[in-house]
Amino acid sequence: MSQTEQQARDWLAQARSICVLTGAGMSAESGIPTFRDALTGLWSRFDPMQLACEDGFRADPQLVWDWYASRREGVRAAQPNAGHLALAEFQRRHPGRLAIVTQNVDDLHQRAGSEGVIRLHGDILEDRWFGPCRRHVARAGNVCDPAWAEPGSPPRCGECGNLVRPGVVWFGEMLPVAALEAAERAARGCDLMLVVGTSGAVYPAAGLAHTARRAGARVVVLNPQASELDDVAHACLRGTAAVQLPKLLQAPPLH
Ligand code: APR
Repeated sequence: MSQTEQQARDWLAQARSICVLTGAGMSAESGIPTFRDALTGLWSRFDPMQLACEDGFRADPQLVWDWYASRREGVRAAQPNAGHLALAEFQRRHPGRLAIVTQNVDDLHQRAGSEGVIRLHGDILEDRWFGPCRRHVARAGNVCDPAWAEPGSPPRCGECGNLVRPGVVWFGEMLPVAALEAAERAARGCDLMLVVGTSGAVYPAAGLAHTARRAGARVVVLNPQASELDDVAHACLRGTAAVQLPKLLQAPPLH
């Protein structure tokens, strides 16, 4: 074990409260592409302004819907990797000690058995109405009834034509307030923040590492490459989630 790995394990053993911030690299070894990795990242092959924002959806709902449909298939076919499983196992061994805040819209932390996962950017497997119901404004919450959705790409409301969209946070949209507040609390209250598989390019998610550092936590970045959060870290573990997390989180040998 390297000196940095041992140092991180020591800090983990001393930490009463751990906050893990995960990004797309967490799911890379499960076969789900990241966004900014050169060549393989989604944004090196697709235009996020065409596919991951409201204007793009308005301009071509079918293109966006079909793109997310193919990503959904990839998520459903993927399996949690050893990193997801190691986090879930640690939570089982130490109830209430480790909180996961994820930028990922897949469900691999949940399928690995992790509890209480805070999802900053939504859920790719969830559907939402795109706009308010244009016909039943008096309806509670001004929302169409899913029973009225007619099949299509995307499905639409048979009553008012409203479109269905994926339940993810698009560029330019606000993050779910409750999730962000819970994430801020976890970042402020932890003794150790573990930042796994994120470039640190997107705020407010990346700001959680700064929040933890300012609140006095030790910050460890786990990433095979340099990231924009390396300068916030007390230590950087150069490696992948599925290899490094099991080493970091494994129970100490019984003496
Ligand atoms: N293990 C750990 N980290 C990895 C692995 C791996 N196996 N493979 C790649 N990485 C690292 C990359 O080095 C990179 O730093 O994961 C990071 C992925 O960065 P991004 O692709 O930018 O993904 P992320 O940081 O999660 O993006 C944040 O941007 O587009 C939005 O909403 C999207 O949630 C996403 C947000």
